[in-house]
Amino acid sequence: MNYKHLKSSDPEIYKLVRAETRRQASELTLIASENYAWPAVLEALASPLTNKYAEGYVGKRYYSGNKIIDKVETLAIERAKALFCAEHANVQALSGTPANLAIYSALCNYGDTILGLSLSHGGHLSHGHSVSASGKLYKFINYEVDQTSEQINFEKLRQLALENQPKIIVAGFSAYPRNIDWQKFRNICDEVGAYLLIDLSHTAGMVAAGVLPNPTNLADVVMMTTHKTLRGPRAAIVLCKLALAEKIDKAIFPGTQGGPHENTIAAVAVCLAEAQRPEFKTYAEQILANAKVMADELKNLSYHLVADGTDTHLLILDLSHKNINGREAENLLAIAGINTSRSTIPFDPLPPTKASGLRLGTAAITARGMKETEVKILVKMIDEILKANDKKLAKQKKAEIKELCKKFPVQ
Ligand SMILES: Cc1ncc(COP(=O)(O)O)c(C=O)c1O
Repeated sequence: MNYKHLKSSDPEIYKLVRAETRRQASELTLIASENYAWPAVLEALASPLTNKYAEGYVGKRYYSGNKIIDKVETLAIERAKALFCAEHANVQALSGTPANLAIYSALCNYGDTILGLSLSHGGHLSHGHSVSASGKLYKFINYEVDQTSEQINFEKLRQLALENQPKIIVAGFSAYPRNIDWQKFRNICDEVGAYLLIDLSHTAGMVAAGVLPNPTNLADVVMMTTHKTLRGPRAAIVLCKLALAEKIDKAIFPGTQGGPHENTIAAVAVCLAEAQRPEFKTYAEQILANAKVMADELKNLSYHLVADGTDTHLLILDLSHKNINGREAENLLAIAGINTSRSTIPFDPLPPTKASGLRLGTAAITARGMKETEVKILVKMIDEILKANDKKLAKQKKAEIKELCKKFPVQ
C-alpha cells in the first residue's frame, strides 16, 4: 500500500506501520486465530467508505446519502447467505465478542441461564467467563470435555442441560481441535427447549470452502469472526433463521452498536467473494493437510496432543510432561520469530497465565504458501527449541525463520 499521506502527516505512526509490516513479513504466525487479510480486504478497509454514517439497515437509514452504501451492505449480506446457506445475515457486528453479547441480549433476559464450554477446556472468554460481560450479565454454566478422550462428553452435557434448563447452549470454540457433532448439540437443545448458538469463528473459512461441514441449518444463530480462517477484516457475521431476524438485528443496532463500519462491511464482502473462488477451497484443504502433518510429526516426536490430534486448523500441544510450560514455550519460540499462543489444557494444574499447553494453527502459514515440507521443517525446529530450552539457540534459529519467510512472502 502507498502510505504517501501517512508518511508526511504522521511520521511516527508511519514508521510503526512499516515496522509492523516488516515484522509480519519476517516472522511466522502459528497463532490459530490470526491470518493475513487479503490485499483487496486491506484496500477496502482503507477506502472512503469509512466516512459515511449509516445507522440503521439497508433501505432504512437515519441519514441521507446511503444509496451506494446500501448496495455494499447488500452484497455482503447476500454473499454471506449464499456461502453459508443462511436465511438471514447481519454483517454489522464490529467483532466476535460484541456479536456474542448482542446475540445473548436478543435471545435472553439478563440473569438467564446459558451453557458454554469452559475457557480452560477450549471455550472463549465471551462464552461466559467471569471477567467478561457475558459472565457478569448471564448465569453461565460451564460444560467440560471428557478427561480421557479430551472431547465433549455429550451425555454429561445433556444431563447439565436437563438440570439447568438453559435458554441457550453455546457450541463452537477457540481451542478445540476436533470435529464437532453439531447434530448432537441440536438434539440436546430440542430436548430442553434451548436455542443453539454456534460460534464458528475459528473454522468459518473451512466451512465456507466446503471442507468442513456447514452447521447453519442446525443452529438457531451462527456467529463467526471474519479475520481468522476467512482472511477478512476484523469483524463478525451473524446468521440466523428468519424468525429471529428482527430480534437479532435490533440487538445489534440499536441494541449494542451505533453506526456500522461500512468500510469494514465492504471488506467483509470482499473476503466472502474470495471464499467463493475454487482457489479458496484449495487453500482450505491445505490448511487441514498442514495441520494433520503438524500433528503427526509432533506425535512422532512423542508429544501428546490434546484430544490426540486435529481435524481442523489448530492443535494443542500438551507440555505438562515436558520441562517447560506454555508461557515459557511461547516466549522461547517468539525469540526465534515463531509466534504461538499458550493455552490451558483440559484439567490444567497451571493457571492460564502460565498454562500447560501451546496452541498452534496453520491458517496463516498456509496463506503464505507453505505446505507439508515446510511444516516438517518447522516442527523439527520447534522441537529443537523446546527441548534445548535455551534462549541462545532460539536466537540462532531466527535467521533460519527469516530465510523461510523470504521464500514465502505474505501474499
Ligand atoms: C470462538 C470465538 N468466539 C469469539 C471470539 C471473539 O472475537 P473478537 O476477538 O473479534 O472479539 C473469538 C476470538 O478469538 C473466538 O475464538
